Amino acid sequence: PIMKEFSSAPELEKQLAAALNLQSCNVVSGNADESDWVKSELGRACVSRLKEVINEGQVISVTGGSTMNAVAEAFTEKLNKENLLFVPARGGIGADIKDQANTICQKMANKAGGNYMVLYSPDQVTKEFYETFIQESSIREVLMKIKSADIVIHGIGDAMTMARRRMTSEEDMQKLVQEKAVAEAFGYYFDENGRIVHKVQTVGLQLEDLKNIPHIFAVAGGASKAKAIKAYMKIAPKNTVLITDEAVTNEILKG
Ligand code: BG6
Repeated sequence: PIMKEFSSAPELEKQLAAALNLQSCNVVSGNADESDWVKSELGRACVSRLKEVINEGQVISVTGGSTMNAVAEAFTEKLNKENLLFVPARGGIGADIKDQANTICQKMANKAGGNYMVLYSPDQVTKEFYETFIQESSIREVLMKIKSADIVIHGIGDAMTMARRRMTSEEDMQKLVQEKAVAEAFGYYFDENGRIVHKVQTVGLQLEDLKNIPHIFAVAGGASKAKAIKAYMKIAPKNTVLITDEAVTNEILKG
């Protein structure tokens, strides 16, 4: 028998995919809120799925976060395809440097023997800064790669957790509370129906860019993210492969 490289629960996966109206998902055991090895399992499951689709010369765009860092940790040379290019989906977040998209890209590229590009920009910028910044030729080059990526790997966060991590202004915090934001992905905040209630002006991948991306992997686990995952999946492109854990799955299937 072929050994799976990560633990998975086929029956739960089927039920979860049906509940979220997705083509495919992976469920690893445990609760990522409670132990770090569950995050490592999420990482391994993601790399395993990635191997099924990745080809030489492809561009892979990745976001930041501790879960993406676990994905980077799980990268092995077995993934080795010639000329892979890793690009950060977005600029930094001003938080822990090891969890920034730039750092994660570099780690993935080093492990897979590929190349990487960096995008040095604050995560939140003013409109004026944004307009000027994206005219810069080195920035444009990275942005074009990001938008034409073959594969996107991203995290999903609980809205309030992410807002606090981003040191969001009091005014925006109130807006998020008022609009009942529950989920965050790519700098967008969503309510439980998947409606965008707030967007951080960021340099990098925009939600509408996702429709041109052939392969999308969303990696997020931990019971505290169940609401967020459920909400984001309402608007996620249908080719999104969700990689999550049992705790999230049980919460979502409970209804
Ligand atoms: C961020 C992504 O860096 O990671 C966010 O840009 C995502 O969109 C977040 O919500 C998730 O972080 P973590 O640490 O929970 O994996």
